[in-house]
Amino acid sequence: MQKIAVLTSGGDAPGMNAAIRAVVRTALYHHMEAFGVRYGYKGLIENDIQAMQSRDVANIISRGGTILKTARSEAFLQPEGRALAAKNLKDRGIDGLVVIGGDGSFRGAEILQNEHGIKVIGVPGTIDRDIAGTEYTIGFDTAVNTAMEAIDKIRDTAAAHERLFIIEVMGRDAGYIALHSGIATGAEEVLVPERITNVERLVQMINYDQKRKKNVHIIVVAEGDDFGAEPLTTILKNKYPKMDVRMAVLGHIQRGGSPTYYDRMQASKMGYHAVLGLKEGKSAVMVGIKNNDIVFAPFKGGCDKKLSINNEMLDMVKVLSQ
Ligand code: F6P
Repeated sequence: MQKIAVLTSGGDAPGMNAAIRAVVRTALYHHMEAFGVRYGYKGLIENDIQAMQSRDVANIISRGGTILKTARSEAFLQPEGRALAAKNLKDRGIDGLVVIGGDGSFRGAEILQNEHGIKVIGVPGTIDRDIAGTEYTIGFDTAVNTAMEAIDKIRDTAAAHERLFIIEVMGRDAGYIALHSGIATGAEEVLVPERITNVERLVQMINYDQKRKKNVHIIVVAEGDDFGAEPLTTILKNKYPKMDVRMAVLGHIQRGGSPTYYDRMQASKMGYHAVLGLKEGKSAVMVGIKNNDIVFAPFKGGCDKKLSINNEMLDMVKVLSQ
């Protein structure tokens, strides 16, 4: 392999820049030429591809977002779009592609390989941490820390006024951010899409807490929860007219900011190993982390499912917030 390209696709995640830096510098170290594709698959189709040198990735390890930008591409879903993308790579003699993104981005990469023989390796980058085949996805730690800090602040004011707060966090259809930020902030309840929400049980808990004068409640709700933060807020407001029930949506602050040590480290490791994987001839695999070790999970059957949530941790929420 002589020339490789790297792109970021799907929602950005803190640590993506550290992964780009690792890919570019590892490639250069191994005497390959490195290219950056701007705007994900859209840029691949539009030939927005530039050679990258070591200095092009200087001072980015601490920055959130992605210097390569990211975009959704309808055209890449069509065979003509993918043919153009492959042509643009081949015209430059690029024979390997590192895709930093989520499972949707890997599906695109796999089709590109099957149709046009481009070697592709995925690096999991999403705050949602919802990809099977890896125990970690770049951005999760930073997002959870951001959510934790925000929820801590809400708890201070909730405690001062003895309010019940329903706090919606991101995660698409996965509950990891909710579960981890909920445990880390001592939430009284965590509602996730992986478990059917039982409002009756929640009401019983609040009634019991009222009897024992526990007057502050933090309920963390994943945005993909089957019941949802807004309907829950309405129900609780009606059920407890004397209680001050409030809702807060944390939103995109969870996606930004300087990556934590952990995200920088995992992103650096995964970017480095993605290039080594390509060099060894691997393709249609994602670099993952299992038991703290680097693994390569095949796109098909390895990382096209959702990582199942830890039920014991979900049960722990109740025990620890008594
Ligand atoms: O996948 C990352 C994520 O932040 C999800 O948690 C969220 O549902 C989604 O992206 C939001 O996407 P957008 O910024 O395109 O609205």
